[in-house]
Amino acid sequence: MNPDLSRLVLDHCPEMLMLVDPGSLQIMVANASAANTLGYPLAQLEGLAITEVECALQSVFYWQDVHSGQQLDVRDQEEQYRLCNGELLSVRKSIQVLEHEGVARLLVRAVPTQSEHVTEDALAQALSALRATLESTSNAILVIDVNGRIDSMNRLFGKMWGVPDEMLYWQYDTRIFDFIVACVEETELLGERLRAIMDPHETRDVLHLHGGSVFEMSARPKYLGEQITGRVFGFQDITQRMQIEHDLRESRAMLEARVLERTADLHAVNAALQLEKEQQAGLIQRLEAAQNQLIQSERMASIGQLAAGVAHEINNPVGFVNSNLGSMEHYLQALLRLLSSYEQAELELSAPTQQQLLLLKQEIDIEFLRDDVTELLAESLDGLKRVTRIVQDLKTFSHADEAQQQWANLETGLESTLRVAWNEIKYKAEVVKEFAGIPEIECFPFQLNQVFMNLLVNAAHAIVERGCITIRTGHDEHQVWVEIQDSGRGIQPENMARIFDPFFTTKSVGQGTGLGLSIAYGIVKKHQGQIEVKSVVGSGTTFKVLLPKSALGADAA
Ligand SMILES: Nc1ncnc2c1ncn2[C@@H]1O[C@H](COP(=O)(O)OP(=O)(O)OP(=O)(O)O)[C@@H](O)[C@H]1O
Ligand SMILES: [Mg+2]
Repeated sequence: MNPDLSRLVLDHCPEMLMLVDPGSLQIMVANASAANTLGYPLAQLEGLAITEVECALQSVFYWQDVHSGQQLDVRDQEEQYRLCNGELLSVRKSIQVLEHEGVARLLVRAVPTQSEHVTEDALAQALSALRATLESTSNAILVIDVNGRIDSMNRLFGKMWGVPDEMLYWQYDTRIFDFIVACVEETELLGERLRAIMDPHETRDVLHLHGGSVFEMSARPKYLGEQITGRVFGFQDITQRMQIEHDLRESRAMLEARVLERTADLHAVNAALQLEKEQQAGLIQRLEAAQNQLIQSERMASIGQLAAGVAHEINNPVGFVNSNLGSMEHYLQALLRLLSSYEQAELELSAPTQQQLLLLKQEIDIEFLRDDVTELLAESLDGLKRVTRIVQDLKTFSHADEAQQQWANLETGLESTLRVAWNEIKYKAEVVKEFAGIPEIECFPFQLNQVFMNLLVNAAHAIVERGCITIRTGHDEHQVWVEIQDSGRGIQPENMARIFDPFFTTKSVGQGTGLGLSIAYGIVKKHQGQIEVKSVVGSGTTFKVLLPKSALGADAA
């Protein structure tokens, strides 16, 4: 080969190359890389003793051996080369014994190792940092490679699972897997997870150990680029967390139960309060009813007293006027008889006397007088009879405080009440009576008359101009009823619920107290009966009082 070309090849080789003569230990040939790296001009390097460059003690011994004929190959040996300026350079060298035309030559090849060392150091450092990280994490880590073998694990893994030391030391993969699978209740699940190395998904499971501990296991694939190269399992002991969560849940449940208890207590208190309120409302109602009765009885008592007084006062004069009129009628008949006798004897009188009497008869209109005086007397007697009846009604009316219930006919009561109320009614309404002839019932007749009185007066008041009031009675096996129907203006629906309330009135001040119906209601209730009302605005109202036929309860006083 052309020696220039050999030189070209030599000088473009990045390794340091030096050919050494074993006899003289001189460098016979060197390349540019050796000259440049060692800092010698090439011409100076060629001819330099190799021991000038390889000055470490072991190298000096080696070259002495070479010199004495013991020539050995060297492979990848670390070495310090002395540079031209005296500094040292770490290299890795190999020496090969070559044969050239029957003579031995030694070819030294070397590369500086400083940069390699730097990379290795960095790698080692990174690895150690990684290891430290792996060890310092609070999770137990297990990495399994694609062949299902343990790639790495941290110390916590062995400790957390309690894996025996010898298993860890010899890294018996299958035995370690079997060991941890046997520790948990979810054996199948864990076994499956440990086998599913190529699963691209992340999984998260909770494992219950036989000893009571609880581990959370998360597993995710380990990638090198796009390729799955294994699976990383992380285990965390969540026993304490679970316990805390459990305790929290329990205390929350307890709290909720207590809140419920308190709420129930509150409800109970509320219910008690509500009950008390209702009782109070009932009490107030009873009080109002009692007050109404008191007012009514006072009212009735005073009206009754008045009526009784008037009745008494009228009764006397009516008595003697009645008796006098009776006598007068008697006397009048006698006088009229006498007059007839005189008239028959008249013919026997003288003509002038007869003429005088005739004039007198004509003057006083004796024929009319004779007829009219009888009529007048009859009318007066009739009038007196009516006065007597009114007095009787007033007397009945004034028996407000009747304490004893008695058998009474309501139709009779209605008649007498109608007479008392007649003054209120006669200008307003025509009264139609449709009496069914109901039997007597055991009751407080005067109080029931009060009821009818109020219903009749209300009916009259409801009629605007003139109308009709129909009084109907009826009965069946158990009860009797009285209906008072008017053709009045009716009751507004919004007032319907209030008409029995004490003091509810739509009448102007002084016209109504609003007590009538509430008292009527009280009286009917006392008789264990009921009042029904139907009303159509504009066409009229019907009140129906239903009363039991049988005797009243003992409390009806
Ligand atoms: N037949 C009826 N037609 C229309 N409204 C009526 C009738 N009866 C009662 N009402 C209504 O019911 C209200 C209450 O009647 P209630 O008899 O209790 O009291 P009042 O008649 O107003 O007064 P009081 O009877 O004390 O003189 C009346 O003001 C009236 O508005
Ligand atoms: Mg009234």
